[in-house]
Amino acid sequence: MCGIVGYIGSRNAYPILIKGLKRLEYRGYDSAGIALQNGSVNVYKKQGKVTELEEHMMGMDLSGTMGIGHTRWATHGEPSDLNAHPHVSNNGDFTIIHNGIIENYTVLRTSLIEQGYKFKSETDTEVLANLIEYIYRSQKVSAEDAVHLALSKVVGAYGLVILCNQENDKIIAARKSSPLVIGLGENEYFLASDATPIIEYTDRVIYLDNDDVAVIKRDELILKSTKRNDALKPRIQTLDLGISEIEKNGYDHFMLKEIFEQPRSIRDTFRGRLNLEKNEIKLGGLYNVHDKLIHAKRIIILACGTSWHAGLVGEYLFEDLARVQVEVDYASEFRYRNPLISEEDIVIAISQSGETADTLAAIQLAKEKGATVLGICNVVGSSISRETHAGVYTHAGPEIGVASTKAFTAQVTVLTMMAMIIARSRGLVGNERFAGLLNELEDIPEKIDKILQQNDKLKEIASIYKNVNNALYLGRGVSYPVALEGALKLKEISYIHAEGYPAAEMKHGPIALIDENMPVVVIATKDSSYEKIVSNVQEVKARNGIVIAVVTEGDDTIEKMADHVIEIPATDPVLVSLLSSVPLQLIAYHIAVMRECNVDQPRNLAKSVTVE
Ligand code: M6R
Repeated sequence: MCGIVGYIGSRNAYPILIKGLKRLEYRGYDSAGIALQNGSVNVYKKQGKVTELEEHMMGMDLSGTMGIGHTRWATHGEPSDLNAHPHVSNNGDFTIIHNGIIENYTVLRTSLIEQGYKFKSETDTEVLANLIEYIYRSQKVSAEDAVHLALSKVVGAYGLVILCNQENDKIIAARKSSPLVIGLGENEYFLASDATPIIEYTDRVIYLDNDDVAVIKRDELILKSTKRNDALKPRIQTLDLGISEIEKNGYDHFMLKEIFEQPRSIRDTFRGRLNLEKNEIKLGGLYNVHDKLIHAKRIIILACGTSWHAGLVGEYLFEDLARVQVEVDYASEFRYRNPLISEEDIVIAISQSGETADTLAAIQLAKEKGATVLGICNVVGSSISRETHAGVYTHAGPEIGVASTKAFTAQVTVLTMMAMIIARSRGLVGNERFAGLLNELEDIPEKIDKILQQNDKLKEIASIYKNVNNALYLGRGVSYPVALEGALKLKEISYIHAEGYPAAEMKHGPIALIDENMPVVVIATKDSSYEKIVSNVQEVKARNGIVIAVVTEGDDTIEKMADHVIEIPATDPVLVSLLSSVPLQLIAYHIAVMRECNVDQPRNLAKSVTVE
């Protein structure tokens, strides 16, 4: 969703800001803008892509060693030049960019209108700009104090970066529930909503905490909290992120790069955690909650989208291996359902970005009710990783493509390791079975490599079905979430309607859809329900349906029935989703490319969904 970038120092700010906005494009947006401070503040903004803003700014005054930039994903008001950020207060005192939502903006807007303020846009952000200015002028306080006072009147979430025309030696930044990171250079500072625009300049960063307000001058950074008046000591961290990780490195799209990265990303997920010699798995982030985890009577998994699908795989793993009762809920449903939670419950929140608003709110609710909340996040330092009591990072590396791929397999890898730890601690999995699973897990990257070698074949299958209007994905057991995930991948990037279903449910409704035009993708690998899924394939074929089957290498039964067979290497059935999800990612990718869709930034979607 919205992205923030800022710079103060001695270099020209514009190239840093425009490049930063390009780095933030992956988050999803509909307009972009930049403000440059050079004695006075010049604001440029445009609906559309960052390149359109760049063209618009050609030939303009781009000087200034301090400035801010924003990519907007519309919430209050349609995408337009006027609604784009930055927003300037009525008298030009304050120019601000904002991620998040000011919930009480209508009330604030009405009272500012009573004071004579006029609004050009429909946004909550312009209200905030004017509120700060109103306080600044009426109470004759400093810009910093005006920001503190204004924020005390605000209900909602914000990542906020502010320029003040009269105090033009500083940038003010504030955070509540919407991330902001400050990069530290030599007499210069970089600001951003995530580290991607900063990484090429510095690896020393400060992540703002909730309620922090930073006043940043070229040679000084003062950090305070809206809750207390004394200065806080900033915690400087080192970014563990390389520039190559946020570039395409020769791939046509980030999504393709990320699909092909999976052997590496899964190895990174279990690096230093699996120990084959000692036949053990260690997840350092869970040490403090180990006892609670192994004695848990119930685990509640909360997530959205692809992370929710990983949670469903987790349900199978925890129940099958560790015999723990598991509930998997959409975070957005859980938070509005008055759910039953007790202090004995373990809640696991799964999120690639660690910023998903619904998941964050669900975590808050679970904490209020006394549950122990664990996080599985990819983005280090993200809000969810901070809000949870303990957790495990997936270490998949930055995922830039909006369609989640390597994050999913990394999440499943973590859930597998957790389930194995609990199962063994509960005495449910003996040494031999544990060692077998450990070895199989270690072999997964190599097996994914083998699947990736079938890319040309998968592209060929994609070319046959690129023009269909509908597709059905079927799976049983642990393959059911894989079916859901395969369908989500196809629909979100190719705009083809696709549904995932438990295979046995087909006869209760979706079977009516089957004809000679609609492909049915069946995950039919060898496990305890193999015979049943063979029957489902026959049921589809008996109605002239088209079957694309994902099968275990060497399967010659389904080969005789299906129209296309995609073989994946054999593995323990518990781990099969790590393999079977990969060809489905590639088919969706190729179909989307052939339909000339914007694969990395599908329409209407955002990478991290920071609003409800
Ligand atoms: O960052 P999160 O994992 O919390 O994001 C959850 C969903 O928004 C995300 O998985 C979304 O469904 C993706 N577009 C799926 O590809």
